[in-house]
Amino acid sequence: MPNDITRLLQSHRSIRKYTEDSIPDNILKNILSCAQWAPSSHNVQAYSVIIVRNTKVKEQLSEICKSQKWVIECPIFLVFCADYYRLKLTTDMYSTNFEIDEVENLLVGAVDTALAAENVLIAARSYGLGGVFMGGIRNDLDTVIKLLNIPKYVVPLFGMCLGYPADIPWQKPRLPGGAVIHNETYKIDQLLFELEGYEQISADYYNRRTNGRKTIGWTKQMAKYVSEPRNQKLKKSIIKQGIQLK
Ligand SMILES: Cc1cc2nc3c(=O)[nH]c(=O)nc-3n(C[C@H](O)[C@H](O)[C@H](O)COP(=O)(O)O)c2cc1C
Repeated sequence: MPNDITRLLQSHRSIRKYTEDSIPDNILKNILSCAQWAPSSHNVQAYSVIIVRNTKVKEQLSEICKSQKWVIECPIFLVFCADYYRLKLTTDMYSTNFEIDEVENLLVGAVDTALAAENVLIAARSYGLGGVFMGGIRNDLDTVIKLLNIPKYVVPLFGMCLGYPADIPWQKPRLPGGAVIHNETYKIDQLLFELEGYEQISADYYNRRTNGRKTIGWTKQMAKYVSEPRNQKLKKSIIKQGIQLK
């Protein structure tokens, strides 16, 4: 049986156009408090959120995101970071080792951060706001780190534009459930069939949404997406922040 929460989740779409309305402080505060109620691996709570309102800073962040203009146009831009700086302070307090060099540490921080961020987006939507995640900030982490005065052991992972929707786009069709949900064991037999069906559905969606400018569907887009390296500077920036990725 659908309920208010499942209906909210199933009506998701990323919002990239906003009205001029600002987000009241008490609403923003309540939304951000929801970030803190996300579950957390080992309760490390290894994330931080930086609220950016300053237009000049948003302009620079937008540039890093290859000029995605919604970064400037949204009233609030949030930067979500995996954060081990507080844990460093705990080791200083008790003079213990600080061992965060494994890939595991980055994964723990990234999962914690993503859970907190999705809570924020859902809470925002419950107030009639909309938003979009912005992975584009990873195009130049070093500059983001400098711009926002981010200390060592903290890695900005993605941003989020938030605001009141000025335009509600069509919902982007998802993979068929059969390609994503497996019963008991992972089933590969049906996958090609499911993907062929999704290629048609998604190509049709892009074709209609772009008035024929984009006609390829999800499988063709994804084959291209994984056909080349994405961000070869990233590892260096993360290591510079103090996680060696061993
Ligand atoms: C971690 C993450 C990073 C994203 N980065 C961007 C981005 O840089 N720019 C953008 O316009 N959308 C970005 N998106 C939004 C996705 O493109 C979007 O969620 C996806 O295409 C599905 O569309 P929908 O959210 O409207 O259903 C990002 C989403 C996630 C989860």
